[in-house]
Amino acid sequence: MSDYTVRLLRPDETFEATALFHAALHAPPPKDDERPYLERMFQPGRAFGAFDTELIGSARSFDAELTVPGGKRVPLGAVTGVGVRADRTRRGVLSRIMHAQLTDFAARGVPLAGLYATEGSIYGRFGYGVATVTQDFQVDRRRALLRPEVPASGEVELLRMPDAVERLAALYARLPLTRPGLMTRPPYWWARFERHAHRDDDRPLAIIHNGPGGPDGLAIYNVRRNGWRDPSTLDVWDLHVATPDAYTGLWRYFLSVDLVDTIEAGDRPRDEPLPLLFTDMRAARITRGGDDLWLRLVDVPAALAAREYDGEPVVLEVTDPLLEANSGRYRVGPGGVTRTELPARLRLGADALAMLYLGTWQASALVAAGRIQAADEDAPRLADRLFATGGQAWCGTHF
Ligand SMILES: CC(C)(COP(=O)(O)OP(=O)(O)OC[C@H]1O[C@@H](n2cnc3c(N)ncnc32)[C@H](O)[C@@H]1OP(=O)(O)O)[C@@H](O)C(=O)NCCC(=O)NCCS
Repeated sequence: MSDYTVRLLRPDETFEATALFHAALHAPPPKDDERPYLERMFQPGRAFGAFDTELIGSARSFDAELTVPGGKRVPLGAVTGVGVRADRTRRGVLSRIMHAQLTDFAARGVPLAGLYATEGSIYGRFGYGVATVTQDFQVDRRRALLRPEVPASGEVELLRMPDAVERLAALYARLPLTRPGLMTRPPYWWARFERHAHRDDDRPLAIIHNGPGGPDGLAIYNVRRNGWRDPSTLDVWDLHVATPDAYTGLWRYFLSVDLVDTIEAGDRPRDEPLPLLFTDMRAARITRGGDDLWLRLVDVPAALAAREYDGEPVVLEVTDPLLEANSGRYRVGPGGVTRTELPARLRLGADALAMLYLGTWQASALVAAGRIQAADEDAPRLADRLFATGGQAWCGTHF
């Protein structure tokens, strides 16, 4: 293949990069009137492009923060828009772009990178691992009768789109985001959503729940109706709450919407209590489980030190050929994280470390699957305790 270079994109190249990304996803090209949204979606200085005679691949990111176990919010490079032109794939273009992007995160002191993957076999080689997982629900609306003790308080308000974005963004910014894996949503994320809300087809609706202390929950959904006699489906795209009452209040609303046969809520946390609301728990079926956020520890010592631990310290040996400064042994425990020369009890790559990091996967499961090597029998059990969080991590902010 002819030679190519990788460099930061200029602001006037955002449309071309989006067109390339859409083509890589087999989606129609962006429309000309979407330019203002695209300009606001691209954070300056965060988009990389590969060029031979023209643009052949790109990936961008925006700055966000991710909640880690213990409650700290850690800077996150949120990677998106990854695509390589169909006639230039499998020649190392993505590898070059990923390298440039990760090196840039490291140089700017961003400890974590995250993304949502179209395919499960692309990103492990770059040190990303599945750090949160989800489940999809399908609710039979007619069968879904709420149990009498389900709380009822507050009011649901239907917002007008796209003006609603400002209120949604302000409310989301006030949510406590205490669950590990939740992330902040900067204006670059909301600009993508505004762009969607502006389209003619597939238009989203937004609601907020107003509780006794003010707005405490938000949801975005739409209703798919085919023929006027055909069954219709309410699709819940986004649902974040500050209180259990806001959660049940929003579900009361979904169940009350007329001309709806089925409610689908995708990519929900694994500990979502939805079936518990119904007199017949089978009214809510789990239809699919899947990966949510893929995480990459860009600065292993900083990322490890940012979260909390419980139990006895364990020495990990991390191998990271892509960001070699991360390779080495770390003593990880409730008292802190230090580099050490002590013998390692567990050996792992950056991708497996990312899978442990938010507590989604147990070290013993990763050892059983051959993804972590244990030096002794006790080490996996100790690491299970060390990385456990007592809850389910979840991101729920697709980007
Ligand atoms: C995924 C994509 C960006 C990969 O780009 P690329 O330039 O072909 O990737 P590279 O040539 O750098 O591949 C690096 C390695 O990953 C492997 N790889 C890349 N894409 C892969 C895929 N989709 N499935 C499995 N392996 C893949 C390559 O075989 C190569 O392996 P090797 O190092 O053992 O030879 C490109 O195929 C694409 O644009 N796909 C459609 C859009 C998409 O899915 N984007 C991702 C959005 S999250």
